[in-house]
Amino acid sequence: MKKWFAMVMMCVLLITSFTCTGVVENNVYAKGGFVIELNGQSTEFASIIHNNIHYVPMRKIFEKTGSAVFFRSRDSKVLILTRDGDVISHIIGESIITVNNEEKTFNNPSIIQNNETYIPIDMASAALCLQRFSYEKQRIKMQKPISNNDYNRVVEDVLEVCDSDNFNPENFISYVKYHTKMPKYSIQEVLFRVNLELDSPFYENITTIENPNNLLVLVNKYNQLPSGFKQKNLVNMDRKYTINDGKEYLLQREAYEKCIEMFNAAKKAGLSMKVVSAYRTEDYQRNLYNQKVRTAGKVHADNYSARAGHSEHQTGLAVDINSTSVSFEYTAEFKWLKEHAHEYGFILRYQKDKEWITGYSYEPWHYRYVGADVAKVIHEEGITYEEYYAKYISAHEFQ
Ligand code: DAL
Ligand code: ZN
Repeated sequence: MKKWFAMVMMCVLLITSFTCTGVVENNVYAKGGFVIELNGQSTEFASIIHNNIHYVPMRKIFEKTGSAVFFRSRDSKVLILTRDGDVISHIIGESIITVNNEEKTFNNPSIIQNNETYIPIDMASAALCLQRFSYEKQRIKMQKPISNNDYNRVVEDVLEVCDSDNFNPENFISYVKYHTKMPKYSIQEVLFRVNLELDSPFYENITTIENPNNLLVLVNKYNQLPSGFKQKNLVNMDRKYTINDGKEYLLQREAYEKCIEMFNAAKKAGLSMKVVSAYRTEDYQRNLYNQKVRTAGKVHADNYSARAGHSEHQTGLAVDINSTSVSFEYTAEFKWLKEHAHEYGFILRYQKDKEWITGYSYEPWHYRYVGADVAKVIHEEGITYEEYYAKYISAHEFQ
């Protein structure tokens, strides 16, 4: 994304002249041009005419008004954050533009010419939330009210860091709200906390997970597996790797294979590891949580047990090893896991002193399979899976 054009807080757009240099013919792209005058500065843009419709270059127009423009290639989505705090989204090739969650439909879709997206002039006008828009012969005039209130100043602070690595344009409004609510936090702290969803209390603002079968699925107090979700890709663990209580223990195949590789390596080092909990169904998890609430109270239950749909155990990618007591931390097995689990693709999921991020007390026994590449990064950086997700996945979809 390009840097901001210099200060463009006052959004008075005045397109003062419009010259058409091409022949206007149906189904023929003709070259046009127009001038935007912004705070006394004029810029000429190439525009195009197609089927008698005037199209303007989307990115250039918005960048000129000081907006930040982002693009996500997987679904050709353009996301624009304006100095007024508006969020505009558009899928290239469609005739809909969404301004602050309100969908507006037009007669013509956006088009791509020379690798640039052009939108019909009426779509541009709606997206810019223009107060006045008039089109006379060879002249287009646009006018937008100037605003410079407290809200705009917060928006300015947030947009100031829109180039930073951890800026996720989808979180723009949340950054603005949280920055207003928590002025004691630096803007970077605001980005960090919002990216980890910590601007809402646990179990508020819950998102239903779209791809529950994804190996890297993030399941936590903000992200819930779809109701009734059942993991299908499960294998029955060989009894020699589980405690001997007559129960079946299931894991996703890849996690299972890596888990037994890890246990065999630990065995060679003279250690003994057994799975004491693996895959759990949604109902099983619900009962487990409810039982914990009954016996230890809600606060304690929420510190140690996930509510139904919120447990990684329901994905078949998590294992509890040897015990569910914090004293497991003092065993040779734990020491070995701390050094080697990541080599087999497992991470210690609920770390000490990271309870405020994960939402759970320290669980030295709970390991989550994420694959060796991801596990290596998490191990080396000493971060939680939530931090990994915010840092390497969520914020990087848009460019
Ligand atoms: N003990 C972990 C948080 C679970 O219930 O999934
Ligand atoms: Zn567990």
